[in-house]
Amino acid sequence: MSAAITVDGIGKRFKRYRHRPTSLKERVIRFRVASDQFWALRNVSVEIPEGQTLGLLGPNGSGKTTLLKIIAGILRPTEGTVTTNGRIAALLALGAGFHAELTGRENVYLNAAILGLSRSEIDRRFDDIVGFAELEDFIDSQVKFYSSGMYVRLGFAVAVHVDPAILLVDEVLAVGDIAFQRKCLDKVEAFQREGRTIVFVTHAPDLVHRVCDQAVMLEHGEVKAIGKPTDVVQEFRLSMSRKDLAYGWDRGTKEIEIVSAEIFGQEGETREWFAPGEEMTIQLDLKANTPVAGPVVVSFAIHDQSNMFSYGTNTDWRDVFFPERFEGKYRVQFVLKSVPFVEGRYYITLGVHSRDSTKVYHVQEQAYSFVMVRGEENPGLVYIPVECRAERL
Ligand SMILES: Nc1ncnc2c1ncn2[C@@H]1O[C@H](COP(=O)(O)OP(=O)(O)OP(=O)(O)O)[C@@H](O)[C@H]1O
Ligand SMILES: [Mg+2]
Repeated sequence: MSAAITVDGIGKRFKRYRHRPTSLKERVIRFRVASDQFWALRNVSVEIPEGQTLGLLGPNGSGKTTLLKIIAGILRPTEGTVTTNGRIAALLALGAGFHAELTGRENVYLNAAILGLSRSEIDRRFDDIVGFAELEDFIDSQVKFYSSGMYVRLGFAVAVHVDPAILLVDEVLAVGDIAFQRKCLDKVEAFQREGRTIVFVTHAPDLVHRVCDQAVMLEHGEVKAIGKPTDVVQEFRLSMSRKDLAYGWDRGTKEIEIVSAEIFGQEGETREWFAPGEEMTIQLDLKANTPVAGPVVVSFAIHDQSNMFSYGTNTDWRDVFFPERFEGKYRVQFVLKSVPFVEGRYYITLGVHSRDSTKVYHVQEQAYSFVMVRGEENPGLVYIPVECRAERL
Protein backbone atom coordinates (compact mmCIF):
# COMPACT_ATOMS: atom_id res chain seq x y z
CA MET A 1 0.00 0.00 0.00
CA SER A 2 1.49 3.31 -0.98
CA ALA A 3 1.22 6.47 1.05
CA ALA A 4 -1.34 9.06 0.06
CA ILE A 5 0.16 11.63 2.40
CA THR A 6 3.67 11.73 3.81
CA VAL A 7 4.41 14.41 6.37
CA ASP A 8 8.10 14.43 7.13
CA GLY A 9 9.61 16.52 9.93
CA ILE A 10 7.24 19.43 9.48
CA GLY A 11 7.78 22.63 11.41
CA LYS A 12 5.89 25.91 11.11
CA ARG A 13 7.04 29.11 12.72
CA PHE A 14 4.72 32.08 13.17
CA LYS A 15 5.18 35.56 14.53
CA ARG A 16 3.20 36.23 17.63
CA TYR A 17 2.35 39.84 18.34
CA ARG A 18 2.49 40.83 21.96
CA HIS A 19 0.47 43.89 21.47
CA ARG A 20 -2.36 44.30 19.06
CA PRO A 21 -3.04 47.96 18.20
CA THR A 22 -6.69 48.74 18.62
CA SER A 23 -7.00 52.24 17.21
CA LEU A 24 -5.56 53.99 14.23
CA LYS A 25 -3.72 56.38 16.53
CA GLU A 26 -2.17 53.49 18.38
CA ARG A 27 -1.32 51.84 15.14
CA VAL A 28 0.46 54.96 13.98
CA ILE A 29 2.25 55.68 17.22
CA ARG A 30 3.28 52.11 17.80
CA PHE A 31 4.12 51.52 14.20
CA ARG A 32 6.47 48.85 15.38
CA VAL A 33 4.60 46.24 17.29
CA ALA A 34 6.61 43.92 19.48
CA SER A 35 6.60 40.39 18.19
CA ASP A 36 8.34 37.15 18.83
CA GLN A 37 8.43 33.95 16.91
CA PHE A 38 7.11 30.61 17.99
CA TRP A 39 6.69 27.17 16.53
CA ALA A 40 3.05 26.32 15.87
CA LEU A 41 4.25 22.91 14.67
CA ARG A 42 7.52 21.12 15.30
CA ASN A 43 8.93 17.75 14.22
CA VAL A 44 5.65 16.42 12.96
CA SER A 45 5.92 13.25 10.92
CA VAL A 46 3.10 10.96 9.91
CA GLU A 47 2.38 8.68 7.00
CA ILE A 48 -1.17 8.06 5.86
CA PRO A 49 -1.56 5.08 3.55
CA GLU A 50 -3.95 5.34 0.63
CA GLY A 51 -7.54 4.64 1.63
CA GLN A 52 -7.00 5.19 5.32
CA THR A 53 -8.60 7.67 7.67
CA LEU A 54 -6.60 9.70 10.14
CA GLY A 55 -8.20 11.45 13.12
CA LEU A 56 -6.47 14.55 14.45
CA LEU A 57 -7.00 15.39 18.12
CA GLY A 58 -5.59 18.09 20.36
CA PRO A 59 -6.45 21.11 22.46
CA ASN A 60 -7.13 24.57 21.06
CA GLY A 61 -4.08 26.10 19.49
CA SER A 62 -2.17 22.83 19.29
CA GLY A 63 -1.65 23.16 15.54
CA LYS A 64 -4.36 20.98 13.99
CA THR A 65 -5.61 23.53 11.49
CA THR A 66 -2.07 24.58 10.65
CA LEU A 67 -1.19 20.96 9.86
CA LEU A 68 -4.24 20.55 7.62
CA LYS A 69 -3.36 23.76 5.79
CA ILE A 70 0.17 22.56 5.20
CA ILE A 71 -1.08 19.21 3.86
CA ALA A 72 -3.53 21.10 1.64
CA GLY A 73 -0.69 23.24 0.31
CA ILE A 74 -2.26 26.48 1.53
CA LEU A 75 0.60 27.15 3.96
CA ARG A 76 4.24 26.53 3.30
CA PRO A 77 6.09 24.76 6.13
CA THR A 78 9.12 26.46 7.67
CA GLU A 79 10.90 23.12 7.64
CA GLY A 80 10.23 19.57 6.52
CA THR A 81 8.36 18.24 3.52
CA VAL A 82 4.90 17.05 2.61
CA THR A 83 4.15 14.72 -0.27
CA THR A 84 0.62 14.04 -1.42
CA ASN A 85 -0.85 11.84 -4.10
CA GLY A 86 -4.04 12.83 -5.88
CA ARG A 87 -6.57 15.63 -5.86
CA ILE A 88 -7.13 17.21 -2.47
CA ALA A 89 -10.41 18.71 -1.36
CA ALA A 90 -10.27 20.59 1.90
CA LEU A 91 -12.95 22.00 4.14
CA LEU A 92 -10.90 24.13 6.47
CA ALA A 93 -12.64 27.19 7.77
CA LEU A 94 -16.11 28.60 7.66
CA GLY A 95 -16.68 29.92 4.19
CA ALA A 96 -13.00 29.79 3.28
CA GLY A 97 -12.75 30.12 -0.45
CA PHE A 98 -16.20 31.67 -0.71
CA HIS A 99 -16.66 35.17 -2.00
CA ALA A 100 -19.29 37.01 0.00
CA GLU A 101 -20.60 39.06 -2.92
CA LEU A 102 -21.05 36.07 -5.21
CA THR A 103 -24.09 33.81 -5.14
CA GLY A 104 -24.01 30.23 -3.97
CA ARG A 105 -24.15 29.11 -7.60
CA GLU A 106 -21.19 31.28 -8.62
CA ASN A 107 -19.21 30.11 -5.62
CA VAL A 108 -19.83 26.45 -6.47
CA TYR A 109 -18.45 27.03 -9.96
CA LEU A 110 -15.52 29.03 -8.67
CA ASN A 111 -14.59 26.53 -5.98
CA ALA A 112 -14.98 23.45 -8.12
CA ALA A 113 -12.89 25.11 -10.83
CA ILE A 114 -10.15 25.88 -8.31
CA LEU A 115 -10.24 22.21 -7.34
CA GLY A 116 -9.62 21.31 -10.96
CA LEU A 117 -13.02 20.53 -12.46
CA SER A 118 -13.95 21.65 -15.95
CA ARG A 119 -17.09 23.65 -16.64
CA SER A 120 -18.93 20.60 -18.03
CA GLU A 121 -17.86 18.44 -15.11
CA ILE A 122 -19.29 21.03 -12.75
CA ASP A 123 -22.50 21.31 -14.82
CA ARG A 124 -22.98 17.58 -14.44
CA ARG A 125 -22.52 17.62 -10.66
CA PHE A 126 -24.17 20.92 -9.88
CA ASP A 127 -27.59 19.56 -8.94
CA ASP A 128 -26.04 16.90 -6.71
CA ILE A 129 -24.00 19.52 -4.90
CA VAL A 130 -26.97 21.80 -4.30
CA GLY A 131 -29.16 18.86 -3.34
CA PHE A 132 -26.61 17.56 -0.87
CA ALA A 133 -26.29 21.02 0.68
CA GLU A 134 -30.10 21.34 0.74
CA LEU A 135 -29.79 24.86 -0.57
CA GLU A 136 -32.07 24.71 -3.61
CA ASP A 137 -34.00 27.77 -2.47
CA PHE A 138 -30.94 29.86 -1.69
CA ILE A 139 -28.45 28.93 -4.37
CA ASP A 140 -28.96 32.21 -6.22
CA SER A 141 -28.59 34.39 -3.12
CA GLN A 142 -25.28 36.00 -2.28
CA VAL A 143 -23.50 33.87 0.28
CA LYS A 144 -23.07 36.84 2.60
CA PHE A 145 -26.70 36.22 3.54
CA TYR A 146 -26.01 32.59 4.46
CA SER A 147 -25.98 31.35 8.03
CA SER A 148 -22.86 29.58 9.30
CA GLY A 149 -24.65 26.26 8.88
CA MET A 150 -25.44 27.04 5.23
CA TYR A 151 -21.79 27.93 4.58
CA VAL A 152 -20.65 24.62 5.97
CA ARG A 153 -23.24 22.67 4.02
CA LEU A 154 -22.23 24.22 0.75
CA GLY A 155 -18.52 23.91 1.50
CA PHE A 156 -18.81 20.25 2.40
CA ALA A 157 -21.06 19.51 -0.58
CA VAL A 158 -18.51 20.97 -3.01
CA ALA A 159 -15.62 19.18 -1.30
CA VAL A 160 -17.21 15.74 -1.56
CA HIS A 161 -18.46 16.15 -5.12
CA VAL A 162 -15.19 17.01 -6.85
CA ASP A 163 -14.03 13.41 -6.74
CA PRO A 164 -11.03 13.99 -4.46
CA ALA A 165 -8.49 11.29 -3.67
CA ILE A 166 -7.82 13.05 -0.36
CA LEU A 167 -10.40 14.78 1.81
CA LEU A 168 -9.30 17.11 4.61
CA VAL A 169 -11.97 18.24 7.03
CA ASP A 170 -11.44 20.63 9.92
CA GLU A 171 -13.80 20.84 12.83
CA VAL A 172 -16.20 23.12 10.94
CA LEU A 173 -18.62 20.25 10.52
CA ALA A 174 -19.64 20.71 14.12
CA VAL A 175 -21.37 23.92 13.08
CA GLY A 176 -24.02 22.13 11.05
CA ASP A 177 -27.15 20.69 12.60
CA ILE A 178 -27.25 17.11 13.74
CA ALA A 179 -29.13 15.79 10.71
CA PHE A 180 -26.50 17.28 8.41
CA GLN A 181 -23.64 15.99 10.54
CA ARG A 182 -25.09 12.52 10.17
CA LYS A 183 -25.25 12.95 6.43
CA CYS A 184 -21.61 14.06 6.36
CA LEU A 185 -20.62 11.06 8.37
CA ASP A 186 -22.44 8.78 5.92
CA LYS A 187 -20.50 10.46 3.14
CA VAL A 188 -17.24 9.96 5.02
CA GLU A 189 -18.07 6.26 5.38
CA ALA A 190 -18.91 6.02 1.68
CA PHE A 191 -15.54 7.65 0.89
CA GLN A 192 -13.83 5.04 3.05
CA ARG A 193 -15.50 2.23 1.14
CA GLU A 194 -14.37 3.84 -2.10
CA GLY A 195 -10.79 3.79 -0.88
CA ARG A 196 -10.28 7.54 -0.51
CA THR A 197 -7.94 9.00 2.07
CA ILE A 198 -9.36 11.20 4.80
CA VAL A 199 -7.88 13.40 7.50
CA PHE A 200 -10.23 15.03 9.91
CA VAL A 201 -10.02 17.11 13.03
CA THR A 202 -12.51 16.34 15.73
CA HIS A 203 -13.03 16.77 19.40
CA ALA A 204 -15.24 13.71 19.66
CA PRO A 205 -13.22 10.64 20.65
CA ASP A 206 -16.09 8.28 19.91
CA LEU A 207 -15.92 9.40 16.29
CA VAL A 208 -12.20 8.63 16.23
CA HIS A 209 -12.93 5.16 17.59
CA ARG A 210 -15.65 4.60 15.07
CA VAL A 211 -14.21 5.79 11.81
CA CYS A 212 -10.43 6.19 12.03
CA ASP A 213 -7.69 3.72 11.18
CA GLN A 214 -5.07 5.88 12.81
CA ALA A 215 -5.01 8.89 15.11
CA VAL A 216 -2.60 11.65 16.03
CA MET A 217 -2.78 13.85 19.07
CA LEU A 218 -1.03 17.20 18.92
CA GLU A 219 -0.06 19.28 21.91
CA HIS A 220 1.79 22.59 21.65
CA GLY A 221 2.55 21.77 18.03
CA GLU A 222 4.18 18.43 18.71
CA VAL A 223 2.98 14.88 18.28
CA LYS A 224 1.99 13.75 21.74
CA ALA A 225 0.58 10.40 20.65
CA ILE A 226 0.30 8.55 17.36
CA GLY A 227 -1.04 5.14 16.46
CA LYS A 228 -4.16 3.10 17.13
CA PRO A 229 -7.24 5.23 17.79
CA THR A 230 -7.87 3.52 21.15
CA ASP A 231 -4.40 4.34 22.47
CA VAL A 232 -4.40 7.91 21.20
CA VAL A 233 -7.85 8.59 22.59
CA GLN A 234 -6.74 7.28 25.95
CA GLU A 235 -3.74 9.59 25.92
CA PHE A 236 -6.03 12.43 24.90
CA ARG A 237 -8.31 11.77 27.85
CA LEU A 238 -5.40 11.64 30.24
CA SER A 239 -4.20 15.03 29.07
CA MET A 240 -7.70 16.37 29.07
CA SER A 241 -8.04 15.70 32.76
CA ARG A 242 -5.17 18.11 33.34
CA LYS A 243 -6.48 21.54 34.03
CA ASP A 244 -3.90 23.64 32.26
CA LEU A 245 -5.18 22.70 28.85
CA ALA A 246 -8.24 24.23 27.30
CA TYR A 247 -10.18 21.78 25.25
CA GLY A 248 -12.40 23.21 22.60
CA TRP A 249 -15.05 20.54 22.65
CA ASP A 250 -17.39 23.27 22.14
CA ARG A 251 -20.02 23.61 19.49
CA GLY A 252 -23.40 25.11 18.76
CA THR A 253 -24.90 28.35 17.60
CA LYS A 254 -24.39 30.00 21.02
CA GLU A 255 -27.82 31.60 20.82
CA ILE A 256 -28.02 30.15 24.29
CA GLU A 257 -24.67 29.76 25.96
CA ILE A 258 -23.39 27.70 28.86
CA VAL A 259 -21.61 30.49 30.68
CA SER A 260 -20.21 28.31 33.43
CA ALA A 261 -20.67 24.91 34.99
CA GLU A 262 -19.63 23.37 38.26
CA ILE A 263 -19.79 20.14 40.18
CA PHE A 264 -20.72 20.28 43.85
CA GLY A 265 -20.81 17.82 46.71
CA GLN A 266 -23.61 17.52 49.21
CA GLU A 267 -22.52 20.56 51.24
CA GLY A 268 -22.36 22.76 48.17
CA GLU A 269 -18.56 22.53 48.02
CA THR A 270 -16.75 22.32 44.67
CA ARG A 271 -15.59 18.75 44.29
CA GLU A 272 -13.53 16.71 41.89
CA TRP A 273 -13.87 13.33 43.52
CA PHE A 274 -16.76 11.34 44.94
CA ALA A 275 -17.26 8.07 46.74
CA PRO A 276 -19.98 5.72 45.48
CA GLY A 277 -23.36 6.62 46.93
CA GLU A 278 -22.57 10.28 47.58
CA GLU A 279 -24.74 13.12 46.35
CA MET A 280 -23.48 15.19 43.41
CA THR A 281 -24.88 18.36 41.89
CA ILE A 282 -24.13 19.39 38.32
CA GLN A 283 -24.87 23.08 37.95
CA LEU A 284 -25.02 25.10 34.72
CA ASP A 285 -25.45 28.83 34.28
CA LEU A 286 -27.07 29.69 30.98
CA LYS A 287 -27.49 32.93 29.13
CA ALA A 288 -29.61 33.58 26.06
CA ASN A 289 -27.69 35.89 23.75
CA THR A 290 -30.87 36.35 21.80
CA PRO A 291 -34.43 35.28 22.61
CA VAL A 292 -34.98 31.74 21.35
CA ALA A 293 -38.28 30.17 20.35
CA GLY A 294 -38.43 26.95 22.37
CA PRO A 295 -38.93 24.33 23.51
CA VAL A 296 -35.42 24.37 24.95
CA VAL A 297 -33.96 21.34 26.70
CA VAL A 298 -30.86 21.18 28.89
CA SER A 299 -29.14 17.83 29.18
CA PHE A 300 -26.08 16.13 30.53
CA ALA A 301 -24.36 12.85 29.81
CA ILE A 302 -21.67 10.93 31.64
CA HIS A 303 -19.09 8.75 29.90
CA ASP A 304 -16.52 6.55 31.54
CA GLN A 305 -12.82 6.32 30.69
CA SER A 306 -13.38 3.87 27.86
CA ASN A 307 -15.99 6.23 26.48
CA MET A 308 -18.94 4.06 27.44
CA PHE A 309 -22.05 6.13 27.80
CA SER A 310 -22.91 5.60 31.44
CA TYR A 311 -25.85 7.87 32.17
CA GLY A 312 -27.67 10.91 30.90
CA THR A 313 -30.86 12.81 31.42
CA ASN A 314 -32.43 16.16 30.61
CA THR A 315 -34.77 18.80 31.93
CA ASP A 316 -37.73 17.42 29.94
CA TRP A 317 -37.39 13.96 31.46
CA ARG A 318 -37.06 15.54 34.91
CA ASP A 319 -40.26 17.52 34.29
CA VAL A 320 -38.54 20.90 34.22
CA PHE A 321 -39.77 23.14 31.41
CA PHE A 322 -38.68 26.55 30.17
CA PRO A 323 -41.01 29.19 28.76
CA GLU A 324 -41.77 28.90 25.03
CA ARG A 325 -39.67 32.01 24.53
CA PHE A 326 -36.32 31.41 26.18
CA GLU A 327 -34.56 34.61 27.21
CA GLY A 328 -32.36 35.95 29.98
CA LYS A 329 -30.32 33.84 32.37
CA TYR A 330 -31.03 30.52 34.03
CA ARG A 331 -29.32 28.36 36.57
CA VAL A 332 -30.00 24.66 36.14
CA GLN A 333 -29.09 22.06 38.73
CA PHE A 334 -29.15 18.32 38.33
CA VAL A 335 -28.89 16.69 41.73
CA LEU A 336 -27.72 13.09 41.51
CA LYS A 337 -28.99 11.79 44.81
CA SER A 338 -26.64 8.83 44.89
CA VAL A 339 -23.76 8.51 42.45
CA PRO A 340 -23.79 4.88 41.31
CA PHE A 341 -20.33 4.70 39.75
CA VAL A 342 -17.32 2.89 41.04
CA GLU A 343 -13.61 3.55 40.60
CA GLY A 344 -12.32 5.62 37.72
CA ARG A 345 -12.56 8.95 35.98
CA TYR A 346 -15.83 10.04 34.41
CA TYR A 347 -16.52 12.76 31.87
CA ILE A 348 -19.51 15.08 31.70
CA THR A 349 -21.01 16.45 28.51
CA LEU A 350 -23.42 19.37 28.83
CA GLY A 351 -25.90 20.45 26.20
CA VAL A 352 -28.55 23.04 25.46
CA HIS A 353 -30.64 22.19 22.43
CA SER A 354 -34.11 22.14 20.97
CA ARG A 355 -36.44 19.33 22.04
CA ASP A 356 -35.92 17.43 18.79
CA SER A 357 -32.15 18.09 18.94
CA THR A 358 -32.08 19.54 15.43
CA LYS A 359 -30.92 22.85 16.87
CA VAL A 360 -27.82 22.74 19.00
CA TYR A 361 -27.32 25.97 20.93
CA HIS A 362 -24.30 24.94 22.95
CA VAL A 363 -22.67 21.61 23.67
CA GLN A 364 -19.56 21.20 25.75
CA GLU A 365 -18.42 17.70 25.02
CA GLN A 366 -16.75 15.98 27.93
CA ALA A 367 -15.38 19.26 29.15
CA TYR A 368 -15.74 18.37 32.83
CA SER A 369 -14.62 15.34 34.74
CA PHE A 370 -14.67 13.83 38.18
CA VAL A 371 -13.01 10.88 39.85
CA MET A 372 -14.78 8.10 41.68
CA VAL A 373 -12.75 6.75 44.54
CA ARG A 374 -13.14 3.25 45.87
CA GLY A 375 -15.89 2.88 48.42
CA GLU A 376 -15.83 0.64 51.45
CA GLU A 377 -17.38 -2.27 49.66
CA ASN A 378 -15.92 -4.28 46.82
CA PRO A 379 -16.71 -2.52 43.58
CA GLY A 380 -18.54 -4.35 40.84
CA LEU A 381 -19.97 -2.41 37.94
CA VAL A 382 -22.23 -0.09 39.88
CA TYR A 383 -22.96 1.02 43.39
CA ILE A 384 -26.45 0.27 44.67
CA PRO A 385 -27.61 1.76 47.96
CA VAL A 386 -29.09 -1.35 49.48
CA GLU A 387 -31.25 -1.30 52.53
CA CYS A 388 -30.93 -4.55 54.45
CA ARG A 389 -33.51 -5.97 56.85
CA ALA A 390 -33.85 -9.13 58.85
CA GLU A 391 -36.68 -10.15 61.05
CA ARG A 392 -37.28 -13.23 63.02
CA LEU A 393 -40.39 -15.02 61.95
N1 LIG B 1 -1.29 32.96 10.48
C1 LIG B 1 -0.91 32.86 11.74
N2 LIG B 1 -0.06 33.77 12.28
C2 LIG B 1 0.35 33.67 13.56
N3 LIG B 1 -0.02 32.68 14.40
C3 LIG B 1 -0.87 31.73 13.92
C4 LIG B 1 -1.36 31.77 12.57
N4 LIG B 1 -2.18 30.71 12.38
C5 LIG B 1 -2.21 30.04 13.56
N5 LIG B 1 -1.41 30.64 14.48
C6 LIG B 1 -1.14 30.18 15.85
O1 LIG B 1 -0.62 28.87 15.76
C7 LIG B 1 -1.08 28.05 16.83
C8 LIG B 1 -1.78 26.83 16.26
O2 LIG B 1 -3.00 27.26 15.66
P1 LIG B 1 -4.03 26.26 14.97
O3 LIG B 1 -5.12 27.10 14.43
O4 LIG B 1 -3.31 25.36 14.05
O5 LIG B 1 -4.55 25.43 16.23
P2 LIG B 1 -5.75 24.38 16.30
O6 LIG B 1 -5.19 23.15 16.91
O7 LIG B 1 -6.41 24.26 14.98
O8 LIG B 1 -6.72 25.08 17.36
P3 LIG B 1 -8.36 25.04 17.45
O9 LIG B 1 -8.70 23.78 18.20
O10 LIG B 1 -8.66 26.25 18.27
O11 LIG B 1 -8.91 25.11 16.08
C9 LIG B 1 -1.97 28.95 17.67
O12 LIG B 1 -1.19 29.45 18.73
C10 LIG B 1 -2.38 30.04 16.71
O13 LIG B 1 -2.65 31.25 17.42
MG1 LIG C 1 -8.33 24.70 14.29
